[in-house]
Amino acid sequence: MDRNRHFLRQWLPWIDDTQTPDDTRRHLKERLQASIGGDEIHLTIVIDGAIVGRAGLQQIHPTNRTANIGYWLGEEFTGRGIMSETVRELIEIGRHYYSLQKLTIRCGTENVKSRAVPERLGFQHEGTLRRNENLYGRWIDHEVYSLLLEPNNSTESH
Ligand SMILES: CC(C)(COP(=O)(O)OP(=O)(O)OC[C@H]1O[C@@H](n2cnc3c(N)ncnc32)[C@H](O)[C@@H]1OP(=O)(O)O)[C@@H](O)C(=O)NCCC(=O)NCCS
Repeated sequence: MDRNRHFLRQWLPWIDDTQTPDDTRRHLKERLQASIGGDEIHLTIVIDGAIVGRAGLQQIHPTNRTANIGYWLGEEFTGRGIMSETVRELIEIGRHYYSLQKLTIRCGTENVKSRAVPERLGFQHEGTLRRNENLYGRWIDHEVYSLLLEPNNSTESH
């Protein structure tokens, strides 16, 4: 994350909150606790022993059986399909282990590379959430993509 601070800061609101190893430890502990509580699950993506990024299901809702997918990669690991493959895995985890019936991905409208991930995986564009996030003092719109899941092993319906 430290190596990619400038790259990640373009789209991730929490980068400035993780400046030191202790900040990162706290962040990981919070994510772990939320995972134990069943609200989230996070994958650390490792290639040849190096951490290249993270991705996860957030806001897992047990009644609605919905969740939101979030992700990031180190810049040097982009352009290889790593995140699309990881999100494919997350879809299966959501379907099999959490019985989710709908997944969403929200991307900054101008975050073309992030939008390409759900578009590549057959998510449907639901619409635009206008002025939805304060990103370091700049208001940004979000594009919402969703995928409807049939329970275990069936094919997706878009
Ligand atoms: C969003 C982000 C993860 C996308 O990374 P990415 O590398 O473009 O996505 P993927 O790993 O799926 O790779 C897709 C790219 O690899 C290429 N690729 C190569 N082999 C591939 C394969 N087998 N399958 C799919 N794509 C492949 C694709 O053509 C595409 O490249 P292109 O954009 O030049 O056409 C990355 O830009 C990032 O971390 N950004 C900063 C943080 C961020 O914005 N997070 C999301 C907030 S909503």
